[in-house]
Amino acid sequence: MAHVAPEEFNRAGNMEELLALLGNAGIENGWAKREPSMYASPKQKFKPARWKFDVAHAALDAAGRFVNTELAERRNLILNNPIPGNEYPTVTTLVSAYQMVKAGETARSHRHTSNALRLVLRSKPGMYTIVDGKKIPMVENDVLLTPNWCWHAHANETDASAYWLDFLDVPLTHLLGPMFFEHHEEMVEKSDIVDADSPARFPFTETVSRLEAAAEIAPGVRQIQLGDPAMRTIALHVLRLDAGTTFEVPPTTLSCVYAGMLGGGEVDFGSEKFDFSRGDAIAAPSGTRQKWTAREQTCLLRVSDEPLMTFLNWLRPIPVK
Ligand SMILES: [Fe+2]
Repeated sequence: MAHVAPEEFNRAGNMEELLALLGNAGIENGWAKREPSMYASPKQKFKPARWKFDVAHAALDAAGRFVNTELAERRNLILNNPIPGNEYPTVTTLVSAYQMVKAGETARSHRHTSNALRLVLRSKPGMYTIVDGKKIPMVENDVLLTPNWCWHAHANETDASAYWLDFLDVPLTHLLGPMFFEHHEEMVEKSDIVDADSPARFPFTETVSRLEAAAEIAPGVRQIQLGDPAMRTIALHVLRLDAGTTFEVPPTTLSCVYAGMLGGGEVDFGSEKFDFSRGDAIAAPSGTRQKWTAREQTCLLRVSDEPLMTFLNWLRPIPVK
């Protein structure tokens, strides 16, 4: 950026000269911007996408042959939204990844400022997440939280690999800046206490009975929230659709990632349709209209940035163009 003296602006004879001076001074004009900074309704660069658990499972098994135990906490498959140039976010504020920890392995204790949670897809009794020194059982379809700066590790004390889906607000942390990460001084934090009733755990058995007792939000559709909200930046909802039910979700400012917990069916985004079943992950960027159809009784986990949007008073419907 060059120094431009105030009197040089007095000598500008036309718009071209003024723009050149502004450019030299490192200032962008506001009357003929290359890209408008405000527009009538949100733009969306990310697109709907679906990832299959059976493919991820096979890929993780292959990774298990080549990525050693020391890197077990990084043996994951990041679901980056499939738009040109994107290498990380699944939707604007969230990233999701499949992870596997092999029989007898531990993934080392660490903590980070990003909020994280996981949905357990395949595990046997003896699989734990260690959160702040307590062993929390990882039972299939349980949801486990590791909020901002909580120590966490994974210990597989079973004879089979365990698989889950991670969800984190890392893209939001990147945007705002406050990323901190550190490893624990112990490889895996010592823990002799099993805490099945931890507030960080939402057991699936409880989720099922709460859904059973919940009122319908639409014909054949029940919904509950895990936590209130689960974390500062992330809300978790479980939807249950009866067999044959169709449920329309209008476009809003929420960025969501869905995961199949039970059953399966089809989701229609207008531009694209995806078949889904248990363990599959679906990116539903803000502004997308979704029509879910359940082939059989189906449970879906919806991970969204609702607390953030609500706090900012930015949770709004988006008109269909
Ligand atoms: Fe982590």
